[in-house]
Amino acid sequence: MWSIGFHNTGVRHLCEQPIFKVPGRYILPLEERPLRVIDTTQPNAGGAPLISLPVVDFSELTNPSDRPAALRSLAEACENYGLFQLVNHGIPSEVMSAMVDGSTRFFEQPYEERAKYMSSDMTSPVRYGTSFNQSKDRVFCWRDFLKLTCRPMAQVLPHWPSSPADFRVVAAAYAEETNSLFLELVEAVLESMGLGRDGSSIMNQFEEGSQLMVVNCYPPCPEPGLTLGMPPHSDYGFLTLLLQDQVRGLQIQHREDWVTVEPIHGSFIVNVGDHLEIFSNGRYKSVLHRVLVNATKSRMSIATLHSLPHSSTIRPPPELVDESNPRRYMDTDFASFLRYISSCEPKKKNFLESRKLAT
Ligand code: OGA
Ligand code: NI
Repeated sequence: MWSIGFHNTGVRHLCEQPIFKVPGRYILPLEERPLRVIDTTQPNAGGAPLISLPVVDFSELTNPSDRPAALRSLAEACENYGLFQLVNHGIPSEVMSAMVDGSTRFFEQPYEERAKYMSSDMTSPVRYGTSFNQSKDRVFCWRDFLKLTCRPMAQVLPHWPSSPADFRVVAAAYAEETNSLFLELVEAVLESMGLGRDGSSIMNQFEEGSQLMVVNCYPPCPEPGLTLGMPPHSDYGFLTLLLQDQVRGLQIQHREDWVTVEPIHGSFIVNVGDHLEIFSNGRYKSVLHRVLVNATKSRMSIATLHSLPHSSTIRPPPELVDESNPRRYMDTDFASFLRYISSCEPKKKNFLESRKLAT
């Protein structure tokens, strides 16, 4: 249960009564608030700049004659944006819509049912909670979440929510599909850095890798200009596969500006995480992103974060380091990340900053 001074029951519970003002503990200092809010009633999102992301077509990656060009666009996206839209990924649309539907029904349950999974234990295979890091946040975020550890599946599955009745089956199918897709993507990422053949030993490690699924729920917010659904952060893993519904909210920092990512139905947003930035010795950049809430629509997203096993050490392979390109980050493992997030308020790309070597 919460270690903080009062029992934070989350934003969904807060919004069960009509609410017209944002409570003080969700109000950000002026300089951290969004400059422009997203107006979902306007076709152009009310003036917040939209960005068209680089698109990677997965079917081109799997076609030998198209693969070289697809690898080049993958590399360019990871270098210049830190993320891309993935289309034609091959995951059946029923698996994806069943996951969104099951998650929606999970969050629609009474508070008591969701609260069964509240835990402040970072190693628990299931954690229901609110905000970003609720034991550290000075100001709370307008988000509730369900986090599920996905591997080893047989071990974690019995801990996952037993209600709605179909939730485990649906979420396990989604986790398996996204994991297979991740394995194909990370193989392409290695090849795009010129690590083609020798990447195989690391591929064996990825097959035993870690996977965390985060289901995010952002209820409508009466004063969306005062708060955020998630503060600026980068994801810790190698790649994150994000499925967002049709409600805008995700923003990335691109060339010093916050820009809104336009959802493409049925596609994934794929982010470079801190571990890939460290592994690539800074060539591929983890992307700083945040989430805005809006006044009228509830928003849901499902992120799966993939990395090496928690016991692995992340460091660049020798091929990516030489005199003109010396190592930029120290060896990093999952324990150092856990120590970091339990010692301070995780923000921006601070974790990655803390792993930087003096050059
Ligand atoms: C995350 C995340 C973005 C979103 O879960 O780490 O950044 O759109 N989610 O909910
Ligand atoms: Ni994120």
